[in-house]
Amino acid sequence: MNYLEALRLQLEWGADEALLEAPQNRFLARPAPTPPAVVAEKLVRAPARSLAAALPPGPAAAERIAAGCKSLEELRAALEDFTGCALKDTATQLVFADGAAATNLILIGEAPGGDEDRIGRPFVGLAGQLLDKMLASIGLDRTKLRIVNVVPWRPPGNRAPTDSEIAVCLPFLRRHVELVAPKCAVLLGAVAAKALLPGAGAAGIRRLRGQWKTLEWSGLAAPIACLPTYHPAYLLRTPAAKRDSWHDLIALRQWLNDGEI
Ligand code: URA
Repeated sequence: MNYLEALRLQLEWGADEALLEAPQNRFLARPAPTPPAVVAEKLVRAPARSLAAALPPGPAAAERIAAGCKSLEELRAALEDFTGCALKDTATQLVFADGAAATNLILIGEAPGGDEDRIGRPFVGLAGQLLDKMLASIGLDRTKLRIVNVVPWRPPGNRAPTDSEIAVCLPFLRRHVELVAPKCAVLLGAVAAKALLPGAGAAGIRRLRGQWKTLEWSGLAAPIACLPTYHPAYLLRTPAAKRDSWHDLIALRQWLNDGEI
């Protein structure tokens, strides 16, 4: 294999930027995974309760862990310790959230990209700069709202998070929303819409955008008004969509004014 092919292969695997001078094997620092034969043996012999401990935590365990978090600090610590999402192994760090801890407005994006992975804050790259301008155009900035992603670790090569990655991170996102307790949520892009509006999300973001919906689940103190709109990264690729996006921003400003938020 020549050097060019080797580089292409790395790109395909998601290694699309150099972070450190020397390569670092992040899997070495973690305990070695249980060999499949041992897991299989445990599957046959172990009673159901100890079986859960032998397998990586799935959405049900994530649900229990997230539900036990009584503050955003506890939620962050729980995510730092969580081993049920393989994205954590390839990401540089957890990208938890940005902005106010108690606010009436939360913005929900998809997943951190390369800049966010390096810096540890959501929406700090090009899409984030556009988002800041969009917010400023309706008199908002990050200090007045909360910004979080569906998935808090960067997927390799900036691919979209898979359904199982979303499913295992969703209990943490929902708990995040419960703890912030906003009155309004803006869903940035198709992944956030699909994760939080599972029925409506199938319609696709082009049909959904600009239509007010309601978020409701048992852990929420009160239903939350919710506005799906385009993701700023999509707007960078598709400037013609900015016109619709502008209508959504005006609708958001109006909603916030009506509620005196
Ligand atoms: N795109 C997202 O969805 N989230 C980020 O934090 C950055 C880019």
